[in-house]
Amino acid sequence: MENFVAYNPTQLHFGKDVIAGLGNAVKNFGLNVLLVYGKGSVVKYGYYDKTVAQLKAIGANIFEYNGIRPNPVVEDVIECISKNKENKIDVIVALGGGSVIDSAKIIAACYPENLDVWSVMKYKTKPSKALPLIAILTLAATGSEMNAAAVLQNSETKEKTGYFNPLTFPKYAFLDPQFTYSVPATYTAYGITDLIAHALEGYFGDGDARLTDKIVFEIIKEAMTVAPKVLKEPENYEYRAAIMWAATLALNGTTAHGRKSGDWGVHGIGHVLSLLFDTPHGASLSIVYPAWIKLHYDRIPERIKYLGENLFGVSSLYDTVKKLEDFFTSINSPIRLKQIGLGEKDRQAIKETLMSNRVSGMINKLTNDDYDKLISFMI
Ligand code: NZQ
Ligand code: ZN
Repeated sequence: MENFVAYNPTQLHFGKDVIAGLGNAVKNFGLNVLLVYGKGSVVKYGYYDKTVAQLKAIGANIFEYNGIRPNPVVEDVIECISKNKENKIDVIVALGGGSVIDSAKIIAACYPENLDVWSVMKYKTKPSKALPLIAILTLAATGSEMNAAAVLQNSETKEKTGYFNPLTFPKYAFLDPQFTYSVPATYTAYGITDLIAHALEGYFGDGDARLTDKIVFEIIKEAMTVAPKVLKEPENYEYRAAIMWAATLALNGTTAHGRKSGDWGVHGIGHVLSLLFDTPHGASLSIVYPAWIKLHYDRIPERIKYLGENLFGVSSLYDTVKKLEDFFTSINSPIRLKQIGLGEKDRQAIKETLMSNRVSGMINKLTNDDYDKLISFMI
C-alpha cells in the first residue's frame, strides 16, 4: 500500500427531505447568498422552490445566477463573478449536477480576490481563500458534491481542464435522492457510467491497495445491479438512493486511498470529445473506456484480468471488455463514436486535440501512436 492522506471536510446530509437543514447551514456563513443553477430543470421540478423557501425562512438576501450549461464554460463563471462583484456574497449555494457545482467551485475560488478565472484553472494564480460553498445535488454522477475538483471548458484555448484545490470542498452537501427522480433516462445512464469510470480510474492507478480494489468492485457491482432497476422505476427511492451514494463514494477519495494516484487518462480523452462535440460526460466515457482497456491488453493484462474475475466472473481480457460494453449498451450509454454521429471524418480533429491538450494518464502514459489506436477502437 502507498502512503496516503484521507481528508474530506464536507459535511454530507443524505436522505429524504434533508433540504430542511439548508437554512441552518447557510446561517453559519452569512445572509448574502449567491444561488447558482442550470438551465431550468430545478425550477421545472420544484427543487428551486424548496431551496428558496429555506433561504427565505432565514431572511437571506438571494442573488441568482442561472444558465450554467452541461459541459460548463469559463465565460459563465466570469460573467457570474462580474455581475455579483458589488453584492458582498457570503456563501454560494449550488443547486444542480456536476456542471453547476463545478462552476460554483471556481466562482468560490475566484470571487473573494477577483482573480482571473482561467489563470486559476491553469494553476498560474493561487487563491488564498474561497467563499464557502453549499452543494444541493440533483444528479448522481460526478462526486463533485464531496470532492474538491472542478472541470471547465475554454473554447478560446480549446481545452476542457480539471482543477483541484482543497479550498473548494463544499462545506455542506445536501443529497436527497428524491431530487433525482426527474433525471431523464439518458443522464441517469450517463451518471452511472461516470461513477463506474471514477471507480475504474482509481483501480487503474498505481499502488497495491487490495481493500480499496474491493471497494471499487463493490461500488461498480452495486451500480450495475441497480442500473436496470432505476431506469425502469425512476421514482423508486431506494434505487435512486443507492445510485446517489455509489456516485459520491466513487469520487470522494475512498477509491484512491492506498494508491499514488488514479490514472485519469480515460477522462482526459473523454474531455476532448466533450470539448469538440459537446458529448455528455458519461457518454464520452462509455465510448473511451472499452477502447482504453483494449489498448492496455498487453501492458497491464493481470490488472484487467483481476477486474474481469471480480466484476463478471470471467478470466479472459476480451470477455472483460465485452461484458463492460454489454453493460453500457444495456443502459443505452454509447460504446462507439458512430452511435453519436462521429467517425473516421472526425479522426484528425480528435487526434489534434488529444495532442494539443497532451492527453495522457497519470500512470499509464499515452503516445501519439496510442491516440490513433484508441480512435480506431472507438470508431
Ligand atoms: O441545466 P439543467 O436544466 O439543470 O439540466 C441538467 C443538464 O441538462 C439536467 N439535470 C440535472 N439535474 C436534473 C436534471 N434534469 C432533470 N432533473 C434533475 N434533477 O441534467 C443535465 C446534465 O447536468 P450536468 O450537471 O451537466 O451533469 P453531471 O452531473 O453529469 O456533470 C457533468 C460535468 O461534471 C464534470 C464533467 O466533466 C461535466 O462537465 N465532472 C466533474 C467532476 C468533479 N467535479 O469531480 C468529475 C467528473 O469526472 C466530471 O469530469
Ligand atoms: Zn467523470
